[in-house]
Amino acid sequence: MTDIDTNKPRAGISRDKAAEPELGQGPIDGFRYNSADFAALEWEQMWTKVWLVAGRVDQISDPGDYITVPIGSESILCSMGSDNKIHAFYNVCQHRGNLLVSAETGSLNGGDFTCAYHGWRFDNDGTLVWVHCEEDFPQGNPCGKRNLVEIPCDTWGGFIWINMDQECKDLFDYLSPVSEHLDCYQMEQMKRTHWVTLEGGFNWKVVQDNFNESYHLPFVHPQTVTVMNEHYSGCQFDMYPTGHCRMLMPGGGPGPQYKGSYEKTFQGLQEDFNFWEFDPSPFKDDLSALRVALQKHKRKAGAEKGYDFSLYSDEQLTDHYHYTVFPNVSFSMKPDGCIFLMAYPHPDNPKKCFFNMWYLTKFPEGAKEYYSNSMRDWVSVDQQVEHETGKVGEISCGHGIDQDVAIWSSQQQGLNSRGYRGEYMPYQERRIRFFHENIDRYLSSNTDK
Ligand code: FES
Ligand SMILES: [Fe+2]
Repeated sequence: MTDIDTNKPRAGISRDKAAEPELGQGPIDGFRYNSADFAALEWEQMWTKVWLVAGRVDQISDPGDYITVPIGSESILCSMGSDNKIHAFYNVCQHRGNLLVSAETGSLNGGDFTCAYHGWRFDNDGTLVWVHCEEDFPQGNPCGKRNLVEIPCDTWGGFIWINMDQECKDLFDYLSPVSEHLDCYQMEQMKRTHWVTLEGGFNWKVVQDNFNESYHLPFVHPQTVTVMNEHYSGCQFDMYPTGHCRMLMPGGGPGPQYKGSYEKTFQGLQEDFNFWEFDPSPFKDDLSALRVALQKHKRKAGAEKGYDFSLYSDEQLTDHYHYTVFPNVSFSMKPDGCIFLMAYPHPDNPKKCFFNMWYLTKFPEGAKEYYSNSMRDWVSVDQQVEHETGKVGEISCGHGIDQDVAIWSSQQQGLNSRGYRGEYMPYQERRIRFFHENIDRYLSSNTDK
């Protein structure tokens, strides 16, 4: 949403605390993670009724450009139409059901989508334009009639979103208030500079549960305790009626509970200090003052490095703004980009899923090549990044996310055990309960979500 007077995105993210929802206490059992029946119900009642990310808008900029995206047992075809609108279709030929397009991405270059089986052709708006032996159909020529089956498609934040429910609500309403909060990041200007998909031996909810709590940080990511206030007492957790959540966690130094040395903190933040040419030595005896000093320094030094921080609050320059969008998206916002994570269900095995890790980079205006401090690497604005795919352990998603990924397979094994009695969670993990209750809301109802 933009400010009507200035036509500029709103500055800063609202830090207003959301009202706490009333949550139940029933156990979140293992069967939710390993039952084929439960997965089938999720598919029918939830996956086919929610807005899902299919790709980035800049993947299909010209008419005839297309991508295909596997979502559970479906393949979705997104194509830039001659009307300069993105259309989304089930990727299935309307003759006798062959998968129409097998490539992950491509361009028609003025041609049509042509089925490999009997040659039926569909244009980039999904209209059937040519069939072999058109005079031989007693029921009438199918051209213009047996078109591709189109589904709702919209864009926000530079993402292509699709929904398999023809009666779905508007995307912006669905995403509220996350869409308003993240307006200042202008994510539509970000470029995907890292794209990994891992096939993992764990249910998709294992992934989203993990990103809905920070209780694991001292153990899975021990490096975090020296550089951020990971303790729940210093964080804010918000749950919204639309099913989305967020966590605000102070960064730029540890919390007051940290009893370690300043050397460890300085070591953990060393690359940031170097990048920002920041001298931390005055803060050896007072780490609590480090965060604000770093914010002030970045604010001043940002422009020299080509950043535009004018839309960010001071907290956004150091802190962790972590959002989870129902059902399967997590964003972790940084001043120069975002880590973007999603898990999609496996077509037929509830104990597996596809985990996607993207890094989206915000390039300073006019920059073609850019050193991303978050990525610790040079990235290019002009190239579509290569899609790396493999199994867990074969490809890195970066050190921090690799630590998360490493735990999920062993958790799935435990969730399958007859000895697992359901979770026993502290209050700080309540976003997980909220997440599961939102799933249940879909599973038990056909009414408006
Ligand atoms: S199934 Fe596509 S043309 Fe026959
Ligand atoms: Fe983690």
